[in-house]
Amino acid sequence: MLVTVRPYVGADWDAVLAITRKSFRNTHDEAYLRSIVDDPRRVVSVATKRKRVVGFAVLRVQGQAYLDTIAVASQWRRSGVGGRLMSAVEEQARKRGSAILFLDMHAKGPLKWYQKRGFTVARKEGLVLFKDGTRSALLAKGLYWGQVVTAAEEKKSATAAR
Ligand SMILES: CC(C)(COP(=O)(O)OP(=O)(O)OC[C@H]1O[C@@H](n2cnc3c(N)ncnc32)[C@H](O)[C@@H]1OP(=O)(O)O)[C@@H](O)C(=O)NCCC(=O)NCCS
Repeated sequence: MLVTVRPYVGADWDAVLAITRKSFRNTHDEAYLRSIVDDPRRVVSVATKRKRVVGFAVLRVQGQAYLDTIAVASQWRRSGVGGRLMSAVEEQARKRGSAILFLDMHAKGPLKWYQKRGFTVARKEGLVLFKDGTRSALLAKGLYWGQVVTAAEEKKSATAAR
């Protein structure tokens, strides 16, 4: 079934809250969700299947690109929704001029999933102290605009452009 990613609107609140309650029982509460979803500096996206909200992501770009949260409703996991959302987030960050995307992950977070998508642990001790007393790990991924080119290829194209 086709997954669509679109900007969050107020009518998505109940679905996003329900996904948050199930996904982040020990870490995110309603007040925190409200504060990030309502923040005009953040980019909030929802993934939908047949117009039903099945996942969401919140990105902040202030110099650096930082992913506040990403989650998929449990019944729709492992079917590509999270991957689709992450690709959209990376594109949003690139468009805003970011070269690196950061996020803080709970110790029990899906490290393998992030690693598969190109993230590495930038700092074992991250910036967030979760409400269950656990300290996050800071993950990072480089967002490149083009292919890696060798110095020789670069020189050739610079010469051709003259
Ligand atoms: C992490 C999460 C967003 C991934 O979303 P998803 O829709 O399940 O991801 P996808 O279907 O795009 O995953 C694709 C691949 O990752 C693998 N994968 C999915 N979740 C995984 C996990 N938790 N750990 C390891 N691998 C995982 C899948 O097996 C699949 O592999 P394949 O392509 O080889 O078959 C989702 O599991 C989730 O909402 N988890 C709870 C909330 C959470 O922890 N968010 C992160 C906060 S830091």
